Amino acid sequence: MTNKVTKAIFPVAGLGTRFLPATKSIPKEIMTLVDRPLIQYAIDEARAAGIEEFIFVTSRGKGSLEDYFDRAPILEEDLKAKGKDELLDILNATNMPSGAIAYVRQAKALGLGHAIYCASRLVGDEPFAVILPDDVIASEGKSCLQQMVEAYEETGGSMVACMEVPENKASAYGILDVDSEEGRLAKVKAMVEKPAPGTQPSNLAVIGRYILTPDVLKNLGGFKKGAGGEIQLTDAIADEITQGRNVHGYRFDGTRYDCGSKAGYLQATVAFGLERPELRDELMVFLQDVVGVKMAAE
Ligand code: G1P
Repeated sequence: MTNKVTKAIFPVAGLGTRFLPATKSIPKEIMTLVDRPLIQYAIDEARAAGIEEFIFVTSRGKGSLEDYFDRAPILEEDLKAKGKDELLDILNATNMPSGAIAYVRQAKALGLGHAIYCASRLVGDEPFAVILPDDVIASEGKSCLQQMVEAYEETGGSMVACMEVPENKASAYGILDVDSEEGRLAKVKAMVEKPAPGTQPSNLAVIGRYILTPDVLKNLGGFKKGAGGEIQLTDAIADEITQGRNVHGYRFDGTRYDCGSKAGYLQATVAFGLERPELRDELMVFLQDVVGVKMAAE
């Protein structure tokens, strides 16, 4: 078995009901932060971490996601003819090599674990990454997944990204029960998906970046139902521990935005807007004004 992580799974089958009515006709992964779809951030992070094969687990109504990663010959010709080289470069940066993306369908929404299981045949007997595009992670240096790939070269076993969350939010996450910590690494002794409020073993939550061994896929094949009656990825990783294998949490360096929630999505939009030199000043003045006016009124 190779230890190099070259494949990543992107579960994109969700209905995105929190963003209705927008998601009635567009997949939530196509929603933009400034001018780039959420899925583009996920793909770029994977590419920067050395991923070469991209597996999308999709569902009905996600056709525009496939089109997004295809060439756009008419647009290309038009930009070329008009000499709009900068836009052409932006467009070309989204092109993926032929055959690099594979799509598998999850026919029924049976949970995140089931979505990952749907990609089993394409993953084979290799470690693989999972990126949840809802979790957008901004980092000044290396991307979150790249940090994890480097740490994984030392640890082996399965690894999940993690961060502290407020106590009253723990029940929305997979939560780690930790044995010991060294630097950014936490040795995990148990994991629980969406613990009932007040029962969480810690405030250390799983964030949507994983490096997993193929044993996790075998565990998922048991189709065991967990929290919310769904087949949970967290449970299949927790089974690794009971089977005697190492699982680590990795406290990544970066800021995570929960773009699966409206508040997180708006925060990310503002933060990413402020990072753009061409938008920064105007946005800053606007924010100061609008916040000032609101505060004065309250
Ligand atoms: C999923 C996982 C959960 C994890 C979270 C991170 O939950 O099941 O363990 O903590 O992503 O965003 P979801 O947000 O899909 O309910």
